[in-house]
Amino acid sequence: MRVLVTGGAGFIGSHVLDSAAAAGLTPCCFDRRASPFHPPGEIETVLGDLLDPAQLRAAMEGCDAVVHLAASADVGAVVREPAAAERLNASGTLCVLEAARAAGVAHVVYASTIWVYSDCAAEQVDEREQLGLPGHLYTATKLAGEMYCRSYAELYGLRTTILRFGIPYGPRARAAAVVPSMVERALGGEPLTIAGDGAQSRRFVYVEDLADGVVRALERPGDGCRVYNLVGDRDVSIRAVAETVCEVVGDGEITYVPARAADFGGVAVSGERAADELGWRPQTSFEEGVRRYVAWRLEQQQEEPALAPARLGARLLSATVRLAVPLLLMTALLGTLVAYLLVVGTVDVDLEPGASVLTIAAVLTLAGALTLETGRRLRGVLLHGLWIVAATYLLSLALPWTRHRFGISRGDALTVLVGLSGAALAVALTALVQGVRHRRAAAPAAAPGD
Ligand SMILES: NC(=O)c1ccc[n+]([C@@H]2O[C@H](COP(=O)([O-])OP(=O)(O)OC[C@H]3O[C@@H](n4cnc5c(N)ncnc54)[C@H](O)[C@@H]3O)[C@@H](O)[C@H]2O)c1
Repeated sequence: MRVLVTGGAGFIGSHVLDSAAAAGLTPCCFDRRASPFHPPGEIETVLGDLLDPAQLRAAMEGCDAVVHLAASADVGAVVREPAAAERLNASGTLCVLEAARAAGVAHVVYASTIWVYSDCAAEQVDEREQLGLPGHLYTATKLAGEMYCRSYAELYGLRTTILRFGIPYGPRARAAAVVPSMVERALGGEPLTIAGDGAQSRRFVYVEDLADGVVRALERPGDGCRVYNLVGDRDVSIRAVAETVCEVVGDGEITYVPARAADFGGVAVSGERAADELGWRPQTSFEEGVRRYVAWRLEQQQEEPALAPARLGARLLSATVRLAVPLLLMTALLGTLVAYLLVVGTVDVDLEPGASVLTIAAVLTLAGALTLETGRRLRGVLLHGLWIVAATYLLSLALPWTRHRFGISRGDALTVLVGLSGAALAVALTALVQGVRHRRAAAPAAAPGD
């Protein structure tokens, strides 16, 4: 069977090409770019644009079936560019169906998503569920594609199969998806951030299992239009994702930020119909899938020495930015102290006390900040290296030895005031730094896979 796979150079498409070839089918990749996952010549490829009917039609010549995966699959990209997403996801699907009809292709398999259930009231759903009107643009465009598949089956007798994918993960996944972004952070010693309490669950599906399901759907075309959910066999909470990633990577720290608006709470999606009619069940446990993804990611990192300097540069830049904040804080705090000693302490101004406190604080802050950069689980605690600066100063006011040594007067209300404002500044900046870090960490989770 000759099969055209649109979007074959993408995450899922590249696995579909592999599974189809392994099953003895003849896959042909249709994409606007060459597959980065296959050496040239391994898979027949037609470079073209989905929205060009002539190119599509020519590519489908002699094909028995089409797997249509090309789409704007990144939810964030859909929100940024809704018109482009509509053209690609909705009109693009119509182009595929029309080209298939014109080329006499017998069967079109369409990649949809379980996000179509996100507007359903029911907590457990299967393919018979009455779908609600979509609240999200991505879902709207994918549902438009589903409706066109149904219409082409009814009007033109084109056999279509709609596959609603769970949240795919595994080798070759987009870096912004939830599992890759958590793995990346864990490998880089960054905290894993969860929006809300992490109880929201997802039906993940390991991508090679998913590709196998697509091939099974190709091999068993039904009459008319048939819908199947291809999902993992259990719900995995976001908290469990983070814990599994930490366990597999062997390190990692989990932090929580406020829940996002309009997040897909997750419904229990049944995969029974695919089991009954296609004989498909997911084979890979979530833990095993994450292990394989991490192994692939580490392998990939080793194979990309050219990228290493860029990554190193990015890490150094990020470290510098992080170090800059506590150092600025220290300078502000101690600058105030020195200014006080110079301006208010008009009699017998002695810079030694300021210089000594400055040295102690500099060492402590630097140590705290460096640990921030290199430490992992201790990071949260040692962020308070900032606090140590203020505490050192206040302590130097409290202890007779330091008061005597540094010539600081405890009775001087202004000195105490300076110390307290330094502490307040430290607290405020610590909160700010943590807020920025959490926001940065939360960003990838805003597009949980699909
Ligand atoms: N990734 C997910 O989380 C997920 C979940 C459920 C369903 N899906 C669906 O599965 C399908 C594949 O998703 P993916 O994650 O592999 O996406 P992907 O972004 O990795 O791959 C999409 C491919 O389509 C190609 N493409 C885009 N515009 C094109 C055009 N105009 N002409 C030709 N090719 C074009 C891209 O070059 C890319 O190779 C999509 O239809 C998506 O909606 C994805």
